[in-house]
Amino acid sequence: MEISANTPAVVTGGASGLGAATARALAAKGAKVAIFDMNEDKGNAVAAEIGGVFCKVNVTSDADVDAGFAKAREAHGQERILVNCAGIGNAIKTASRSKEDGSIKHFPISAFDFVIQVNLIGTFRCIAKSAAGMLTLDPLSGEGDRGVIINTASVAAEDGQMGQAAYSASKAGVVGMTLPIARDLASEGIRVNTILPGIFDTPLLAAAPQNVRDALAASVPFPKRLGMPEEYAKLALCMIETGYFNGEDVRLDGAIRMAPR
Ligand SMILES: NC(=O)c1ccc[n+]([C@@H]2O[C@H](COP(=O)([O-])OP(=O)(O)OC[C@H]3O[C@@H](n4cnc5c(N)ncnc54)[C@H](O)[C@@H]3O)[C@@H](O)[C@H]2O)c1
Repeated sequence: MEISANTPAVVTGGASGLGAATARALAAKGAKVAIFDMNEDKGNAVAAEIGGVFCKVNVTSDADVDAGFAKAREAHGQERILVNCAGIGNAIKTASRSKEDGSIKHFPISAFDFVIQVNLIGTFRCIAKSAAGMLTLDPLSGEGDRGVIINTASVAAEDGQMGQAAYSASKAGVVGMTLPIARDLASEGIRVNTILPGIFDTPLLAAAPQNVRDALAASVPFPKRLGMPEEYAKLALCMIETGYFNGEDVRLDGAIRMAPR
């Protein structure tokens, strides 16, 4: 699907990192971008920079997501592009013994549930509600595209590290649902693809000490550096613009395979 001037798009998690880079890249092509995020300050700043709109949305809330789509569609019209970047992580072992006093604890189930709610169910909520809206659109001329949906998983979906049970499960869920959703929406001309990023230089990692960042960069086979958010955005736009790209889960990771820790 061509991203032409005024193509309406929604980017969740668009206030920061991979989502912000994608919002900027879409806007540079003329798209009208609505940013769904919980971070009002950063979301408003990115929206102002790219001439888009900010919608304060927690993707775990049905009401927020409905209100976000209503605001975005009021401003720009029904979106033809949805990019899901909103996500969180945690690092807790399934069960562990304290080195100090030998006490034993397990991964709090509420913490596991929270990650699944945001990363997996939040992503599906936005997909389902966006796809329902896209069904009201006329197909575009050419191959009859109605829209394109891009999701963000992680290489942790395939090689999750210690402590990543919840995060890996949530991202493997996103990978697992990509093909069936693409099949559900195929007859309506909506394509669905998922990116599995490796280690990217986003605000998440900017906070890490330089030696940690250097060690992470050195662990990437080639190129020996962190991924740049603009590279994620480039792949997202490639998936949107390439008509034959559908039902795919693609790693973007410099050939890294994560070690156990
Ligand atoms: N940075 C990496 O190395 C990396 C690697 C693999 C996967 N990812 C995934 O990429 C996505 C983007 O990560 P990033 O590095 O850009 O992180 P980031 O923290 O810079 O951006 C994530 C954005 O999502 C928003 N968000 C979090 N929970 C939300 C919720 N419930 N509702 C709405 N918005 C919410 C945050 O406010 C933030 O603006 C995430 O899904 C993350 O798991 C990142």
